[in-house]
Amino acid sequence: MVKQCFAAGVCWTLLLGCVFAAHAVTFEVTEGNSTCIKAELNASFSISYNTTNGTSVTVFALPSSAAVANGSSCGAAGVPPELLLSFGAGHMFSLVFSSDGRLYRVANMSLQYNLSDTSTFPQSSSAGVVSVMTNVSEISARLNSTYRCLSSTSVSLDAGVNVTFANVRMEAYMTSANLSKDESVCSADQTTTTVAPTQSPKTTAAPSPVPPPAAPERGNYTITNGNGTVCLLALMGLQLNVTHFSKSRNQTVNEVVNLQPNRTTASGSCGVPVATLTLAEDLTNLTFTFTLNSTTQKFHLSAVSVSAFWSDMTDRFVASNSSLDYLQCSVGRSYMCSTEQMLGVVPTFSINTFRLQLQPFNVTANKFSAAEECRVDRENMLIPIIVGAALAGLVLIVLIAYLIGRKRTHAGYQTI
Ligand SMILES: *[C@@H]1O[C@H](CO)[C@@H](O)[C@H](O)[C@H]1NC(C)=O
Ligand SMILES: *[C@@H]1O[C@H](CO)[C@@H](O)[C@H](O)[C@H]1NC(C)=O
Ligand SMILES: *[C@@H]1O[C@H](CO)[C@@H](O)[C@H](O)[C@H]1NC(C)=O
Ligand SMILES: *[C@@H]1O[C@H](CO)[C@@H](O)[C@H](O)[C@H]1NC(C)=O
Ligand SMILES: *[C@@H]1O[C@H](CO)[C@@H](O)[C@H](O)[C@H]1NC(C)=O
Ligand SMILES: *[C@@H]1O[C@H](CO)[C@@H](O)[C@H](O)[C@H]1NC(C)=O
Ligand SMILES: *[C@@H]1O[C@H](CO)[C@@H](O)[C@H](O)[C@H]1NC(C)=O
Ligand SMILES: *[C@@H]1O[C@H](CO)[C@@H](O)[C@H](O)[C@H]1NC(C)=O
Ligand SMILES: *[C@@H]1O[C@H](CO)[C@@H](O)[C@H](O)[C@H]1NC(C)=O
Ligand SMILES: *[C@@H]1O[C@H](CO)[C@@H](O)[C@H](O)[C@H]1NC(C)=O
Ligand SMILES: *[C@@H]1O[C@H](CO)[C@@H](O)[C@H](O)[C@H]1NC(C)=O
Ligand SMILES: *[C@@H]1O[C@H](CO)[C@@H](O)[C@H](O)[C@H]1NC(C)=O
Repeated sequence: MVKQCFAAGVCWTLLLGCVFAAHAVTFEVTEGNSTCIKAELNASFSISYNTTNGTSVTVFALPSSAAVANGSSCGAAGVPPELLLSFGAGHMFSLVFSSDGRLYRVANMSLQYNLSDTSTFPQSSSAGVVSVMTNVSEISARLNSTYRCLSSTSVSLDAGVNVTFANVRMEAYMTSANLSKDESVCSADQTTTTVAPTQSPKTTAAPSPVPPPAAPERGNYTITNGNGTVCLLALMGLQLNVTHFSKSRNQTVNEVVNLQPNRTTASGSCGVPVATLTLAEDLTNLTFTFTLNSTTQKFHLSAVSVSAFWSDMTDRFVASNSSLDYLQCSVGRSYMCSTEQMLGVVPTFSINTFRLQLQPFNVTANKFSAAEECRVDRENMLIPIIVGAALAGLVLIVLIAYLIGRKRTHAGYQTI
């Protein structure tokens, strides 16, 4: 091993040893006085590059002199949170985060390395800056918790570029200046603890069920046809309920996630007899298909398809059903349902709708036509009417009884 090292000119095993003995470096992204990303990490890069007489591999650590660079961000409309580090002679390393409201993850990891840095890339045959990145990373954690991974884990950014992390404690979307005490432990660390069954037998606590989120915000989605007129209108809050295998909990869960209107874009098509509405959020695509029946002059929601790849999923979740019959309404009217409704699509996927009003056909003047209310709403409205009528009836009976009683007493006096 040692011989190999010397033969290669660079003793990269020794170097690796140094890297992992070094203390983790802490980086912080702040905006105003508040911290939104904090990362204590130890990273080393292994890069294969072309030299004048073959290929070489260089291994170097993220130095403690690395600085949080200007492109870092706490996130804003359309801009995800990002930790951007610059180090050495023109190298950059970036972690871009995304969140689905329950978990956050590293959505994108990228490295720019400068081959003209001859101390890092001796005898490099080219001199430019090379960029590599990946969208695949295991780094995900519950919101308001710290991602912890003390074990060494590697991520491949490209066939010839690997990043190895160790001693990582990191949090994004922070709500306080310090890392949360609550930790999401990476699977590599979990296996290390399960390998050593030395502790006294503990009752394995069942993972606490995740409470469903609050009612979703109401989105205002419209589709415009070629000549700029609005042809489909939808106002609704949507909650998606997906049954999938959870990475973090190692079991099948029902994950309920609200669609966030300000991060959702609507697209689709209007037509007869079929109109579609596709709602796309970062990690979710949802398509509704409405069909018009010219015989009955009614339309209904006939198909739904979904594709989601949330941070806690092991695989992309895809489901569709094109023989649905929901939200039926007369053509030329809008369908309205203020009460929460559950629309089952497939056994593993359902949609909860909140304060819904929609019109996929015959929209005129960019507004909803007269509304046809769902049965639940009509029944809910009937209850106060029935109660009111019953009360009125009761008052009437008491009044009549009183009048009759009074007449009798009068009659009694007269006979005396
Ligand atoms: C930051 O903190 C300082 C001192 O605590 C305070 O004067 C300043 O207004 C704060 N700035 C913001 C943007 O909160
Ligand atoms: C190295 O050179 C080979 C061919 O000479 C080329 O295919 C390869 O892409 C080069 N690799 C890098 C990292 O530039
Ligand atoms: C390439 O050249 C350098 C010096 O010019 C030498 O040290 C190295 O061993 C050579 N590598 C190969 C693969 O021939
Ligand atoms: C979206 O809306 C939520 C709640 O109103 C808000 O907290 C969040 O900052 C908004 N996000 C963007 C990207 O505007
Ligand atoms: C995270 O903490 C903030 C502030 O304490 C809270 O508003 C938010 O709902 C929390 N988010 C989750 C997913 O627990
Ligand atoms: C990156 O990792 C892969 C898989 O572990 C390995 O085959 C490859 O040689 C590594 N590349 C470098 C440049 O270290
Ligand atoms: C929905 O958005 C349209 C314009 O995009 C606007 O004219 C309409 O008033 C909005 N409706 C509601 C209820 O906010
Ligand atoms: C826009 O096009 C639709 C059909 O695509 C047509 O029915 C409608 O009259 C047109 N509206 C205007 C203002 O041209
Ligand atoms: C989600 O779906 C599961 C299985 O169909 C169901 O038991 C659960 O009540 C649903 N949760 C919500 C909040 O709709
Ligand atoms: C996940 O659960 C399976 C079976 O319940 C178990 O064998 C496995 O060790 C668990 N994995 C982790 C990482 O906890
Ligand atoms: C329209 O509705 C009628 C009655 O429900 C049904 O028999 C017919 O098949 C429907 N037509 C289409 C094109 O779906
Ligand atoms: C959503 O659709 C877009 C465009 O077709 C695609 O690039 C993206 O991967 C899809 N997202 C999911 C979660 O399926």
